[in-house]
Amino acid sequence: MRIHDLPTPCLVVDGPTFEANVATMSAHRPGRALRPHVKAFKATALARQLHTAGHDAFCCATPAEVVGMAAVGLGADLLLANEVLDVRRLHTMVASSLGSRITVAVDSVDSIAAASSAGVQEVLIDVEVGLPRCGCPVDDAGRLADEARAVGLEVRGVMGYEGHLMMETDDKAARVEAAMAGLLAAHAAVGGDVVSGGGTGTWDTNTWVTELQAGSYTLMDADYARLDSPFRPALDLLATVISVNRAKGWAVVDAGLKALATDHGPPTIDGATVWFCSDEHTTFAPADGGELPAVGDRITLRPGHVDPTVALHDRLHVLHGEEVVDTWDVDLRGWDVRRV
Ligand SMILES: Cc1ncc(COP(=O)(O)O)c(C=O)c1O
Repeated sequence: MRIHDLPTPCLVVDGPTFEANVATMSAHRPGRALRPHVKAFKATALARQLHTAGHDAFCCATPAEVVGMAAVGLGADLLLANEVLDVRRLHTMVASSLGSRITVAVDSVDSIAAASSAGVQEVLIDVEVGLPRCGCPVDDAGRLADEARAVGLEVRGVMGYEGHLMMETDDKAARVEAAMAGLLAAHAAVGGDVVSGGGTGTWDTNTWVTELQAGSYTLMDADYARLDSPFRPALDLLATVISVNRAKGWAVVDAGLKALATDHGPPTIDGATVWFCSDEHTTFAPADGGELPAVGDRITLRPGHVDPTVALHDRLHVLHGEEVVDTWDVDLRGWDVRRV
């Protein structure tokens, strides 16, 4: 199959760029020094490529992702790097993933109780390191570790995600160091072997964690591409020009808000200015007096944010040039956890 045979809108992955991104990260953080986050791409077939590159420990954001990874034999060491209070879902996750090693992030007595009553055996204490999201205060980490051990959980260490620093350009290394100083202080109180954190934006500045939780580096997006990093955008949305207004100078493709996420800004189109996205359309104009496309032309849009864009699609089509060489199901979507 060739790219022009694909129905639009659909996501396409440039195979060589993806492979180069994976190789660059694996050289920098080989094996267990990287715990790739599957929430960025939600496809076990892509995770399998990372396994082949030497990584057998993964982060997940939902019990459904954990179960999906375990079901395809990628369960050597899965971290549910998120607080989950739904005991029924956690229990189904544990029962469906026998033979897999599952660790769950906890940041309160409630999340500890949920993990414990669901039959989870291992946890990490999630510590707030500056991002106003999940994680306990640094000073509470030791107490929570004691609470977890008291109910029979094994505490493997700590995690702390410095998401507020991913796009930082001013004195990034010092800010990451300061954020991680809190995580290391928590680790001293908690114990265990694991200090987990970091992401694509701090891939080289976070030298403090034992394992980096990056995932977006595999496919990248228009937002992350603004950073000075060796990772190149590998993901595009293929669309068809369905209407051209030559009198007024704009064109419209068959892909809009239901095909890509705009929370990190609108998509970009090479040689054009994107005006706006609506439900099923994106309107754009050629930059600097360039040519308008013709109705029926295929063009690519680069999504602003990879994770929520991929979660809107069923498949990722892998390209080598114009050839579609593989199709990866986005099989880790949704929240339902089915017993397998
Ligand atoms: C807990 C956690 N760890 C790591 C990451 C890093 O992912 P990325 O590769 O997108 O920077 C994220 C992203 O949101 C996250 O939520």
